[in-house]
Amino acid sequence: WDFHVPWIDAILRLKGERNAVIMAHNYQAPEIFHTVADFTGDSLALAQEASRVTADVVVLCGVHFMAETTKVLAPERTVLIPDMAAGCSLASSITGEDVRRLRKQYPGVPVVTYVNTSAEVKAESDACCTSANALQVVEAMGSDRVLFLPDRLLGANVAKQTSVELILWDGACEVHERFTATQVRNARAQFGAKVVAHPECSPEVAREADFVGSTSAMAAWLTREKPSRVALITECSMADNLKTDFPQIEFVKPCNLCPHMQRITLPGIYRALRDMAPEVIVPRDVIHGAKRALDAMLAIGR
Ligand code: 13P
Ligand code: SF4
Repeated sequence: WDFHVPWIDAILRLKGERNAVIMAHNYQAPEIFHTVADFTGDSLALAQEASRVTADVVVLCGVHFMAETTKVLAPERTVLIPDMAAGCSLASSITGEDVRRLRKQYPGVPVVTYVNTSAEVKAESDACCTSANALQVVEAMGSDRVLFLPDRLLGANVAKQTSVELILWDGACEVHERFTATQVRNARAQFGAKVVAHPECSPEVAREADFVGSTSAMAAWLTREKPSRVALITECSMADNLKTDFPQIEFVKPCNLCPHMQRITLPGIYRALRDMAPEVIVPRDVIHGAKRALDAMLAIGR
């Protein structure tokens, strides 16, 4: 931590000078999450916060689609991301052209896209969803069939909870698809741990879990249930962050890191605020379409 302190001090000073806020996803490293961030949360909470932010500048500590979502919901703010290359295997699995083609193939079928997509893909959609409200958004479409894009594993988990037929795309999170049901069973047997999983994991993994939910829903479950040992089947910075809030809980493996989330560092945040770059720019027509789909989701809430 000594190594981090000069960066933290410099960031806090620049943040004041720029009238900036720092929003950080739950998967950000503890030295970001617990120090410089003004607001932390899951993808839905970050989007909700973006829609009411009043600062001149937002530094989004997370991946590119989250920064784009912030720009779409706060177009008059300057939105910075410390590393433009912080991508996502789900966002890169589908393009706006793919969605246009699917709409021709399935005329009249509503399109729900996970927020883990580009603004261009969102602009082609009827509504967005996050892992916190996917089921509610699917059911709000009022249709017996929905195109659910692009996460086939989240889609398979949602499909188990609804009578709506979901037409899926072949995308997956490169972090969550690696967890196996055997790893989960081993964590339970070896450590006597409760198992909490993210719905981007396969249905086989989700079936083994005591609770399945978004990153913030996982934290809320720990607050409610207070297990003594837990295996968090998600990106493992999440467990590092929660250790501070729940010192009495022992967090056990398995652990996978997201290489994209890890691109965001304290020096990167400092440089972004110093140089006011890299700035996230979204074309005006794309903002218009993506905002419509995001607003449809925000109206449904959590
Ligand atoms: P949530 O925070 O919405 O659960 O999303 C997890 C995720 O994979 C973000 O990249
Ligand atoms: Fe994308 Fe998975 Fe990384 Fe989240 S954890 S940003 S879904 S690759």
